[in-house]
Formats: sequence, structure tokens, C-alpha cells
Amino acid sequence: MAIHQHDVLIIGSGAAGLTCALRLPEHLSIAVLSKGAISYGNTSHAQGGVAAVLDQSDSLDAHIEDTHIAGAGLCRPQAVKKTVEEGPAAIDWLVQQGVKFTRFEEGDVLSYHLTQEGGHSHRRILHVADATGSAISTALIQQVQTKSHIKVYEHRMAVDLITTEEDKQQRCIGAYVHHGPSGNTDVFIARCVVLATGGAANVYLFSSNPDVATGDGIAMAWRAGCRIANMEFMQFHPTCLYHPDANNFLITEAVRGEGGRLLLPNGEPFMHRFDERAELAPRDIVARAIDFEMKRLGVDCLYLDISHRGADFILHHFPTVYARCLQLGIDMTKEPIPIVPAAHYTCGGVLTNLQGETDVKGLYAIGETASTGLHGANRMASNSLLECFVFGKSAADHISQHLAPMPDAAQVPEWDDSQVTDSDEDVVISHNWDELRRFMWNYVGIVRTVKRLERAMHRIDLLKGEITEYYSNYRISNDLLELRNLVVIGELIVRSALARKESRGLHYILDYPALSQELTDTVLTP
Ligand code: FAD
Ligand code: SIN
Repeated sequence: MAIHQHDVLIIGSGAAGLTCALRLPEHLSIAVLSKGAISYGNTSHAQGGVAAVLDQSDSLDAHIEDTHIAGAGLCRPQAVKKTVEEGPAAIDWLVQQGVKFTRFEEGDVLSYHLTQEGGHSHRRILHVADATGSAISTALIQQVQTKSHIKVYEHRMAVDLITTEEDKQQRCIGAYVHHGPSGNTDVFIARCVVLATGGAANVYLFSSNPDVATGDGIAMAWRAGCRIANMEFMQFHPTCLYHPDANNFLITEAVRGEGGRLLLPNGEPFMHRFDERAELAPRDIVARAIDFEMKRLGVDCLYLDISHRGADFILHHFPTVYARCLQLGIDMTKEPIPIVPAAHYTCGGVLTNLQGETDVKGLYAIGETASTGLHGANRMASNSLLECFVFGKSAADHISQHLAPMPDAAQVPEWDDSQVTDSDEDVVISHNWDELRRFMWNYVGIVRTVKRLERAMHRIDLLKGEITEYYSNYRISNDLLELRNLVVIGELIVRSALARKESRGLHYILDYPALSQELTDTVLTP
């Protein structure tokens, strides 16, 4: 077993983790872990862009108001204000890091091209064509690679946080980290730890997320004693490509922002029947409308059509979406794209303050793993990347002022796998994965009922028992560790959903269809 020591341990190499690493002072030694390759995560898959107020006709107040409306009354005002106000500076910083946002020329003036997405009252989404996340990820990785004080460890999966009691309070001093290729589990010791592990949408059978999004940070924080907030608010993106070989491919909301229409199989538009903002209503409303129409008509998908904008426009604005669809035999310049909703974004997460601090001393959470209060009951499109840049910086600022001394490595017990054996039936893990994701989709999806949630809870209890037994008796693998985390995520979602006796934002439950007068977060305590 190896022991690694750094001033700061950042678990996750997406927009949040890399921003935090780059914002920390250079005299600190920083470790960044990624479960797969450094670029693999939700960030590099982001298409639409980053929301920020840059246009003269727009205003900070309008962005703040739109965020509150989308969040259905549950956004935390200070988190919204901070994020929106720091948006333009975050964009400047990204440009300094080398991100080349799409621009257009008007006369002699070169301006950023701003696109529009659901819930935004103005065009305010900066983007790099339809591959914004990949451009940001590439630029940040290039910057990190030039910094000798930042060491990146790829293919390292944090298993659990290491905590110790200090002044009657839990303090985080590192993590046990599994290296899949060698099978070793090492100790990482640090003066503070940052969870930047992304979301948990893979708890559902159909998701827009790459397979690393299994809620590891939320589950680890829960086991370490942190409160977890608002997990019932899982966001379903209205338009993922419907095709057997599509493998979680998103059709960016910017397609609707640029005039794309949602159609029934007979070619009829329908969104105006559900909301006066039609295709540009917030995501919860659009996803529910699609779900309703699919169930009403008994069909497997609906359609998104932007062919009327012409081939030149489509190829210029949506080259990635166009190429992927064409690979699968769909020419979006000539025909509608088949779409279905899929689990997309985890609005809840580890409860933090505005500096990213959690309930455990020395443990921070940022990005999709955190619940800062920005998103309330429903995240507005393109606010999440912005949150990663804003909170990545504020956590870094706070860490640099409040670092505890280096913990004593001799006090940390080694990872002990002397009592376990190799599993003889890995198929049990894949069956449990499949079972969990399937009943979460069927019972805890876009439209819920108390009865279905209780059914899901019952199955979660059974699975938890089996997985704990497996974990205690067999050598760990990434699949087993992810399953162990996903079942915690399932439990947190179902418990939160059962606790909320109203329909609000992304949580829609037939037993309580109305809004309650009370505005409350769902906060679960371990
Ligand atoms: P991620 O980018 O997901 O990074 C998580 C990191 O944690 C990865 O490096 C992973 O390897 C690592 N990790 C996870 N678990 C462990 C572990 N146990 N041990 C070690 N490492 C671990 N948002 C927008 O604002 N605009 C958009 O246009 C947009 N488009 C999107 C399109 C798609 C298809 C998807 C899936 C999401 C989109 N989002 C968008 C959401 C946004 O991309 C994410 O919320 C954001 O990128 C999250 O960044 P993050 O740094 O928190 O996590
Ligand atoms: C998209 O491009 O539709 C995704 C935007 C987001 O999730 O914020």
C-alpha cells in the first residue's frame, strides 16, 4: 500500500475540480484524482454552454430572476446573487485559460455569439459551437499540465473519506483510493479534501451522463457524516437522442433555443398546450409534457425538428449533433430527430455554504456534487458550468486562508483486505446494477406516486443488504464500489421524495399535485 501526501486532495477532474486546482496558490501541493481518464466526465460532454450576463440588453437582475423562477421558489438568494454577479469574471478567466467562445462579426465589431435556452429571458449562453464542455475541459487540462505543483492521478477511484475526531468535531484528512488496473487501495493524506465528483444520474436506466456519474462524492460524504439536501430534484433533460446505438447522446437545448420545434409522431406541435413559453419553458415542464404525450399516445419517442433553419445554419451551430445523428442515419437538416427525456442533472447533493464547506471540517464539495442552493427545485440550463467556476474559485480562496496542519500519516489505518476473497460471481453486481437503475426509472422517474416510491424503497432495502454483504466478503472493484454508492443515492432520492408532500419543480407526485405554501428544503441527516 502506498501513502501519498499533498496539501490539498481534489477528488474529480471536471470543471469544478480543475477550476479549484488552478485557483489555489502555487506554493501548495495539490493532488487531483479522476476515476477514468482526466477528461472523462460530465464537463467534457456539455454542449449548450455557460450562462452569464454579457449583453447590454440583459441584466444581472434578469438572470437572477430567471434562476429563481426556474428553481420554483427554493433557490437560496445569496447563492444565486453570488453566482450571477461573478459570472462575467468567470468568463474572463476562462478566456484567459484559452477557451475560445464562438464569436460573430457585426460591421467592425467582434462579439460573443449568445444563444438561448429554456427559462432564460435573454440570449445569454456563451458557447463553443455545440461542444462547449469539451473546449473548456481541453483548455483547463492544458493549463493543469503546465503546473508542477498539481499532480493528476488518473484511473483512481476514491472509496471512502478518512476522518478523525478533533475538538469533538469530525475532520477529513484524506481518502482511501482504489487503483483499478493494479487492484491496490492506497491512502491519500491531505490538509483538506475537496469533493468534485460530479452528479449521480446513472442511478437511472436512461441518462445523458457518461458512466462515471455515479454519485460517489455524495455517498462518501453521507457515510462521513454530512447532511445531504434536495435529492428528490433529479433533472430529466427533455431531448436525448432515441436510437438503439445512441448511448446517452444529448440533443442540446440550444436546438430549441434556435427555433427547434417539438412534434408528435404526426408532425403536430404540442408544447404551446402545456406552457405559453412553449419549447423554451423550463426543463421540468418540457420533460413532463413529453412524458405525458408519450404515455397518452403509447409511443416510444417524440421528435425535435429544426430542419427549417437550413443546412448552413445547422452545420455552423450544431456540428457535433449533426455528425452524431448522421452517423446513425438521421439527417437533421432534412428530417426531425427522434428524442426521449433522460436523467441529466443532480440538483441536490452535499449541503455546503457559499465557500463550499460541508458539515465535516476540512471537507469541501463543489460542482454537481454540492447543494449550494443555486438551483432550488430545478436547475436552469447552463447555470451548472457557471456554478463550477464560481464555487471552484470560492472554495480555493477559502482553503488558502484556512488550511489545517498536515495530519500524522502514522495515525491512519491501512486499507485491510486480508479478510476478503476474490468474487466468484461478478454477474451478481451487474444484475443488481440493472435492477436498481430499472426500478428507479420505473418508480422514481418524471411522474411519481407514494405507492411507487414505497415499492422502490422496499427494493432498495433488499439490495442494500446484499451489497453490504458482498462488500464485506469480496475484494473491491470499481463496479462494486459504484453500485455501493448508487444504492445510497437511490435511497437518498426516495427518502427525499417521500418527505416532500407537494409537487414542486422537478418533483412531481400524483398524490400531492399542488404546491405547498411552505418553502422548505429536504435535508437528510446521517
Ligand atoms: P464532472 O465534470 O462530472 O467531473 C466529475 C469528476 O469526478 C470526473 O473527473 C470523475 O472521474 C471524478 N470522479 C467521480 N467519482 C470519483 C471517485 N470516486 N474517485 C475519483 N474521481 C471520481 N451544464 C451547463 O452548464 N451547460 C451545458 O451546456 C451542459 N451540458 C451538458 C450536457 C451533458 C450531456 C451533460 C451530461 C451535462 C451537461 N451539463 C451542462 C451539466 C454539466 O456538464 C455538469 O453539471 C458539470 O460539468 C459538472 O462538473 P463537475 O466538475 O461537477 O463534474
Ligand atoms: C444542453 O445543452 O441542453 C444542456 C445544457 C445544460 O444542461 O445546462
